[in-house]
Amino acid sequence: MAYVSKRGATISGIEPRTGETHMAKLIAGNWKMNGSVESSRALAGGLAEKVKATPGLADVAICPPGPLMRDVLTAVAGSPIGVGGQDCHWNEAGAHTGDTSAALLADIGCAYAIVGHSERRADHGETSEQVKAKAEAVLSAGLVAIVCVGETEAERDTGQTETVVGRQIDGSLPDGGTPKTVVIAYEPVWAIGTGRTPSLEEIAAVHAFIRARAQESYDLGEGLRLLYGGSVKPGNAAEILAVEGVDGALVGGASLTVEDFWGIIESCP
Ligand code: PGA
Repeated sequence: MAYVSKRGATISGIEPRTGETHMAKLIAGNWKMNGSVESSRALAGGLAEKVKATPGLADVAICPPGPLMRDVLTAVAGSPIGVGGQDCHWNEAGAHTGDTSAALLADIGCAYAIVGHSERRADHGETSEQVKAKAEAVLSAGLVAIVCVGETEAERDTGQTETVVGRQIDGSLPDGGTPKTVVIAYEPVWAIGTGRTPSLEEIAAVHAFIRARAQESYDLGEGLRLLYGGSVKPGNAAEILAVEGVDGALVGGASLTVEDFWGIIESCP
């Protein structure tokens, strides 16, 4: 059964499809601060054509920069692609220059919002406490929150991955979340945009840790969608997406061309 957001945006496959025992993977593209009106229309439109021609490989979402949102929503209309914000404020409205509320994202037809991306945590000093408040605003707006966590290289090298990620999980997840409304993306900071990835065993181990911790702290492990992010490309997507406990991918660089992003979608087992 599809989940329908408050404003009517349909998010298919959040529950296992009829007759299937496993949940569809979620492949979410994070365009970051890239694209123009022209390129975004071509990219979103090209992707929508592919998804319509070969539906059901995965649930697909794209998260463009705010000013391109309307063009992207128009380009994907009539396709099952969900659109998401890359961030939002924790308040519904008010004097917050430069920010966008989750309520407004919902109002224009978004289905998702990413919160707590490491680039926001680093560039804007976002704390887990703020990320949690944002995630709760996302839920209040009727959207699905994609909450990002991940350790830096120095933290990994000093054996602190579980301590750091555990603290982020405890601090950043929204109260009252369910597997239908919360997705966690594990994104090791050192793997983002670097072409480097953890080994498949390391990904499996951190995902298992995150699922157990989300269960322990928020009763939110079972059925939770847990994405891996960080240098996912068409060439490594199949093996990463086949790792136990990996329910999809959050993709940066490789979401910027139809060919690469579609190559990842097609790699879903
Ligand atoms: P990347 O980015 O795929 O370019 O490594 C992933 C992300 O930051 O979400």
